[in-house]
Amino acid sequence: MQKLEVFGGNKLKGQIKISGSKNASLPILAATLLSNNRIILKNLPKVGDIETMLTLLQSLGSKIKINKEQIIIDNTKQQKNFASYNLVKTMRAGILVLGPLLAKFGFAKVSLPGGCAIGTRPVDIHLKAISKLGVKYKIHQGYVIANAPKGLKGNNIHFSKISVGATENLIIAASLAEGTTILSNCAIEPEIKDLVNFLNKIGCKIKWKSKRTIKIIGVSKLKEISYSVMFDRIEAGTYLIAAAVTEGNLKIQNIIPKIIKTEIDILKKIGSKIIVKKNEVQIIGNKKIKSMKIKTAPYPGFPTDLQAQIMVLLCRANKSSIIQENIFENRFMHVAELNRMGAKILTNGNKALVKGNINFAPAELMATDLRASVSLILAALTSKGKSVINRIYHLDRGYENIEKKLKKVGAKIRRVN
Ligand code: UD1
Repeated sequence: MQKLEVFGGNKLKGQIKISGSKNASLPILAATLLSNNRIILKNLPKVGDIETMLTLLQSLGSKIKINKEQIIIDNTKQQKNFASYNLVKTMRAGILVLGPLLAKFGFAKVSLPGGCAIGTRPVDIHLKAISKLGVKYKIHQGYVIANAPKGLKGNNIHFSKISVGATENLIIAASLAEGTTILSNCAIEPEIKDLVNFLNKIGCKIKWKSKRTIKIIGVSKLKEISYSVMFDRIEAGTYLIAAAVTEGNLKIQNIIPKIIKTEIDILKKIGSKIIVKKNEVQIIGNKKIKSMKIKTAPYPGFPTDLQAQIMVLLCRANKSSIIQENIFENRFMHVAELNRMGAKILTNGNKALVKGNINFAPAELMATDLRASVSLILAALTSKGKSVINRIYHLDRGYENIEKKLKKVGAKIRRVN
């Protein structure tokens, strides 16, 4: 099994180009199933979760051609409507094929994604909402078996809780439903706006009516298009924090700074100097890091996907900080590993008390999930000596060329077998 060796102590300096967004690419790839045409997608990141989604699409009958700069998805042949456990178990976003398959065929059998390290991650909100479009479903042997005998019918649907995935599944399904659908209490993550932009470009009729309400008029014909996916705001946030924690100086490029305003404002408060340009943010880390109280929240709040990374930075602050995790019930697994490196973090329910003034010590470490893995790299980058990070397949699910990008800005990091 591959590991990463990190020799810490260097300040990161230079430029990093941010890749396409994994979390925007996944629903857009699922949404291509609506089409009977060819769709060209650009700027997809080369990461494990995207490979899994492409394999899932192929298993459903899509023909996929991968070129250097673009991926061509050809759905001109009849598709299947069975998404197997083997493909959905490794990636929760597999459930996103339920909406488009039901919209296109009126029947789908899709494996339940199952639990994952950061929480139980149920799909009840997806299922409850989709049933309001005229879908009957049952759960049988770990599969959702769903059908809409009369086709999908538009409806007014209010989400009881904000869910990124459920909002995406419903937007996609309602795009081909008969009549009008109004979705309220929607998630408004930038990746959802990217999905809506993509769907409107292929011919769907989707409009934002107010901050969390979307109106969708079902259509029956879609166009052949080419679409470039937005940048990965979590990758951008991770490298901003990498610069802050190593007291480095990085230019984060190929981004739209206003999308990550919350993160920029917090890093400024923590003490980093930040210069915002049109498609770039430069960050200059400060020796003095101020303590903070941070709560994760749906967009535009602070993202749960950056909680582990910001925790590493707050371990270096001048005083104690508090982090409150409001999205997932079990997203502090990185705490035990960070404490093994000398951190003093105490958790109580969804709160973590993060003691400051920590100098991380190198250690042999175990990655537990995607964002936890990257937080261990950040801590290792500050500690003088060699750290070894095991189980890095988590990292490869979501970060494109991470060692290459970090090496280019001065990190000593290498992959070993
Ligand atoms: C997406 C992101 C993930 C991010 C998360 C929150 C992708 C591929 N993944 O995940 O990186 O951390 O948003 O920003 O885009 N919930 C239910 N029932 C449901 C659905 C969700 O109880 O049917 C709960 C979840 O357990 C969680 C919360 O709602 O506690 C939010 O989850 P959700 O927004 O749905 O996250 P994902 O779409 O899975």
